Amino acid sequence: MRADYGTLASVIASLTEDETDEVALMATVVCELHHADDRFDWTGFYRVTAPGVLKIGPYQGGHGCLVIPFARGVCGAAAREGRVQIVPDVEAFPGHIACSSSTRSEIVLPVFGRGGRLIGVLDIDSDRPGAFDGADAEGLSAILTSVFGAL
Ligand code: SME
Repeated sequence: MRADYGTLASVIASLTEDETDEVALMATVVCELHHADDRFDWTGFYRVTAPGVLKIGPYQGGHGCLVIPFARGVCGAAAREGRVQIVPDVEAFPGHIACSSSTRSEIVLPVFGRGGRLIGVLDIDSDRPGAFDGADAEGLSAILTSVFGAL
């Protein structure tokens, strides 16, 4: 099944109401997203923990790399540029970090808090090629803004 982002947004809003702890919010968001869509094989956050450094946060799926510098990978590009990255074929992305050899495509979104502060990135990997499009970017961005935008 494919995620219904509108429904997910309301479920996540009710589960996270009044919560302001970033890790608690991330854990809840990844859990809800990961189980809502068959395309999602790895769903997780990387957090900005030092200048130019992303460190693994809450995730679902197999183990992920612990640290990703902004200079590397799709996650690094999303953090560096502050823009959503949709990669239809990870083998064609220079510097892609392969944590699982089954990953074929991915989407990575920057996560912003109050005033545009970069909190981290949301990384979703799929075993299917070309799994993500603009509708995913839109639906996921709306959820991230409503959960993290005021922190
Ligand atoms: N999507 C990544 C790395 C995969 S993870 O560690 C799960 C990238 O930024 O290239």
